Amino acid sequence: METQNTERKKRIFSGVQPSGTITLGNYLGAIRNWVALQDEYDCAFAMMDMHSITVRQTPAELRKRTLELLALYIACGIDPEKCILFIQSQNSAHAELSWVLNCFTYMGELNRMTQFKDKSAKHADNINAGLFTYPVLMAADILLYQADLVPVGKDQMQHIEICRDIAQRFNAVYGNVFTIPEGLLVKSGAKIMSLQEPTKKMSKSDENPKAFISMMDDFNVIAKKIKSAVTDSEGVIEYRPDDENKAGVNNLLSIMAVMTDSTPEKVAALYEGQGYGTLKGAVAEAVVEGIRPIRAEYDRIIKDKAYLQGIYRQGAETAHRIADRTLKKVYKKVGFVID
Ligand code: TYM
Repeated sequence: METQNTERKKRIFSGVQPSGTITLGNYLGAIRNWVALQDEYDCAFAMMDMHSITVRQTPAELRKRTLELLALYIACGIDPEKCILFIQSQNSAHAELSWVLNCFTYMGELNRMTQFKDKSAKHADNINAGLFTYPVLMAADILLYQADLVPVGKDQMQHIEICRDIAQRFNAVYGNVFTIPEGLLVKSGAKIMSLQEPTKKMSKSDENPKAFISMMDDFNVIAKKIKSAVTDSEGVIEYRPDDENKAGVNNLLSIMAVMTDSTPEKVAALYEGQGYGTLKGAVAEAVVEGIRPIRAEYDRIIKDKAYLQGIYRQGAETAHRIADRTLKKVYKKVGFVID
């Protein structure tokens, strides 16, 4: 992240909100992909706690979950020696740039955000301005680091689009200030679906815990949830991504494909002619075996508070140094006195 020459590695920024439990969707759609990218790119990954407070949080819980998320990143294979790992709220540049970008974002475009519509329907008693300007803070997160690529799940692509629009609008007025980022999706697993309503995405805020797999669930609970996943009455194992009736089976095939480094089509061919019970059993085993080593690492790391603190403190320092360069440039461009 530090190199300045023209042949610098491309930069990556991404993050997860420490609200609620981290799901298999977060892992397969995002974190797992980051692990694969960290050697090739300069990466910064953050715990997006400022985004979390757009929905009411219990303070002690949020604090605890932020550290748990850091431990989980590392347990999943993110190497703190290679990547910058930090807590969003520990770098004030995010809030500062967010304010400036607010002045370059239109109400109309924020109004179109599907996540805003969904979340305001869900939290009708707390439709706060932060929920509305959430994508602007997200744009600040990305643009501060001049990120080229943002590896996320499909549900975040609309936010990447608005980030690009804001950056292009700013650049059109002030010259080349921001790198225009691109979203990066995994081939399979970019949208893991709910196990109970497979036409909806798997979400940590789902009221029905059977709908999602938490990375912290007991292994027998994980297996049980997969075995009771909703499928269809056709009884045919086939991957038909455009067929809503097959949403449950498509989802199981996609999960299996990521866990076994295969494709949903190949997994379907492997289980052709067999019952859903067999497929579910195999998926359950693959998921449990995939999560088992992560959990062992997590249990070890989470106990070492001093180690975690060392990482996020160092991360905040480096992140601040990089972000400050962009922020200063922006402040200068818009006419703030900066010396
Ligand atoms: P969040 O915390 O909701 O989710 C974290 C990441 O997990 C992905 N994801 C999924 N992928 C596949 N299937 C699913 N069912 C699934 N559910 C979630 C998300 O797409 C995301 O990549 N706004 C972001 C956090 C954020 C951020 C950023 C991300 C804040 N600033 C800057 C990238 C860059 C969010 O709420 O993600």
